[in-house]
Amino acid sequence: MKTSRIGRLALAAALALGAFPAAARPAVAKPAAAKPAAAKPAVRADAWWKNAVIYEIYPRSFQDTNGDGIGDLKGVTQRLDYLKKLGVDAIWLTPFFPSPNADFGYDVADYTGVAPEYGTMADWDELAREARKRGIRVLVDLVLNHSSDEHPWFKESRSSRTNPKRDWYVWHDPAPDGGPPTNWQSIFGGSTWAWDEKTKQYYYHIFLPQQPDLNWNSPGLKRAMYDVMRFWLKHGASGFRLDATPYLFEDPNWPNDPDVKGGRPVWLKPYNSGLPKGNAILRDMRAIVNKAPGGAILLGESSTATIEDLRKVYGKNADEINLPMDFLYGNLTKLDARVFKQQIDDAHGKLDGLPPVFFFSSHDHSRQWTSFGDGVNNDRIARITSAMTLTLRGTALMYYGEEIGMADLPAQELKDFPLGPKRRVADNRDPERSPMQWTGETGAGFSNGASWLPVAKAASTVNVAAQLADSGSMYHWYARLLELRKTVPALRDGAYVPLESGNPAVLAYARVDAQGDGVMVLLNMSDAAQTATISGWPTGPRTAAAVFMASPAASAVAGASLSAASLEPYAARLVSFRGR
Ligand code: GLC
Ligand code: CA
Repeated sequence: MKTSRIGRLALAAALALGAFPAAARPAVAKPAAAKPAAAKPAVRADAWWKNAVIYEIYPRSFQDTNGDGIGDLKGVTQRLDYLKKLGVDAIWLTPFFPSPNADFGYDVADYTGVAPEYGTMADWDELAREARKRGIRVLVDLVLNHSSDEHPWFKESRSSRTNPKRDWYVWHDPAPDGGPPTNWQSIFGGSTWAWDEKTKQYYYHIFLPQQPDLNWNSPGLKRAMYDVMRFWLKHGASGFRLDATPYLFEDPNWPNDPDVKGGRPVWLKPYNSGLPKGNAILRDMRAIVNKAPGGAILLGESSTATIEDLRKVYGKNADEINLPMDFLYGNLTKLDARVFKQQIDDAHGKLDGLPPVFFFSSHDHSRQWTSFGDGVNNDRIARITSAMTLTLRGTALMYYGEEIGMADLPAQELKDFPLGPKRRVADNRDPERSPMQWTGETGAGFSNGASWLPVAKAASTVNVAAQLADSGSMYHWYARLLELRKTVPALRDGAYVPLESGNPAVLAYARVDAQGDGVMVLLNMSDAAQTATISGWPTGPRTAAAVFMASPAASAVAGASLSAASLEPYAARLVSFRGR
């Protein structure tokens, strides 16, 4: 399959129950050189986020420092040098707040606290400080649509109909027959309504019953959440990854769905998502982050049905979410050059020049090694998907372990690992959440204790230590892509030029800087050798200079041409050129 596993959850509901050192801007970056000139630091006047690489960390699985088998904030701090060396601009941490873990942290019981299993507020402060020192920004996950049912706000809200926080959540009288007010379905399965026996009303939850929706019509709630944002900004966050942004408001007429099972998927129904009132909230939030010293941003989990809807999420005047994740790209799992071309051309042509946000892997998505891999050519295929995401104009997200070609945890390995006290409920997203593979030792360098999810057996060979030592490894492929993104102006902020390959299996495009210098990208998305005849270049002089990067590596020796290419099965090739 391949929509995010959130979609899959519907089917499998039973299972779940300031002052940064500037990025490198070389004085002269001639793509002709075999290796780009060393980065010369300079203050970037432009918005750093428009072409950043943001690395998503699931802290629970990244690095454990106290042997309890659960990754922690200190662990993230310990690995900042690694991240710096890899070349990421920012990290996004999924929730580390106190939570009963009905949805592993996405059910927040205290928005301004650190769960003891992840550490302390002092650990957070240290992480923010150490990251800042290294020029790495940290984004906090803001779960703004719902809290945990164990949040004190909800406990108050449900205590009586007259409690001052009653309207902080979405309460509704039963339908005339005593049943739920509407027939709407939750994204995680079952009705969106849960009955409260004490106050004899239903509350609304688009996700789990343990995740009651917050009511953004309530001025008190709104103020409290804006204060949460100010709290983290004050504590050194560079912004937020906004969880589940489409769901802040529901259709106030509460219409019944005439076709619950049909029409749009349950997470994109017209009555439960994308209501225009949400835009005003996002504008407020943008104004809050804009005021943060050093410039903070909003990265949005903004699932949309169309590119036109995605454009709206930036705000009519580009004053809402800076970076809405492009799920139209991120949900693709079939390597099909034509489909990608369409999606990528749209993202560049239909978003009014705003930065697209490309990604494939996440804590909700199958890892791209697994989702695109055919079991035989996974290494080559992973080089294609990464080369594409990281050479497109805009911002790219990476998911921890992606850079070493981590796979989803095999079903059998999960099965062999009994649910322990640290994993109260199995989740169908467990496969992509297994511990980071740092070394080939037992525990993979993740933990000295019993890890909360099993470490993949593959860690004995697929791990950071081994790949650092091997210049041909996936790690070095990624590190080189990230380096080129920073040091080659065309790849950093150059225009996207769609090209025609004359071959449906080959995706071709170029990035071109203001001088006309640039990089052509050729990706053979098939298991057979292919030839390409490239056209679609804008007029002007242009000479191929060198093959920058190639997979398989042998093709690096092939001559560089801007008009024709022979490509091995699943080949990826970056050819640099000069515009004079
Ligand atoms: C988002 C998160 C997902 C979570 C859901 C409910 O989709 O990415 O992990 O389960 O929101 O908070
Ligand atoms: Ca720990």
